Amino acid sequence: MKHGTVTINYTEHTSADALSAADRHLVDEAHAAALRAYAPYSRFMVGAALRMADGRQVTGNNQENASFPAGICAERTALHAAMSAQADGRVEVMAIIVPAAKGERPVAPCGICRQALLEQEFRQGGPMRLLMAVPGGPVVELASAKDLLPFSFDATFLNP
Ligand code: THU
Repeated sequence: MKHGTVTINYTEHTSADALSAADRHLVDEAHAAALRAYAPYSRFMVGAALRMADGRQVTGNNQENASFPAGICAERTALHAAMSAQADGRVEVMAIIVPAAKGERPVAPCGICRQALLEQEFRQGGPMRLLMAVPGGPVVELASAKDLLPFSFDATFLNP
């Protein structure tokens, strides 16, 4: 028998003010995007904003549907918009925020989004940073989306 331990490293910034100007701007863009979300069913508005290696910024928000599973999260809206415009693009960093969130806990991407973000890291051959933010609270930074998904399924299983 063998026991294992998975360690995840993250940085908690006391607030968005502690970020670089570029990252702070991204959090602001994610916040603005959240306010444009279409979330009449959950009333849970989420915003995402990413910066590409060439400096271009792309935003996304959740888009819900009366047929609930047809809805899509903010993170994948932003990611797919970015990559549909620039097939060889590289996402450096993505900020995620829920403006209405109460308390000190930044929102974390759902499981499906984690899988999609992981695919993007595989696609671009390198990590993307994640900034999980909450208004007036801390920002949790991860160096790679992979940190959110240990024991993950990826293309290496399909093409061993
Ligand atoms: N949602 C996101 O957009 N991103 C997340 O990280 C968590 C959940 C959306 C999906 C749905 O429209 C609403 O939030 C409630 O789950």
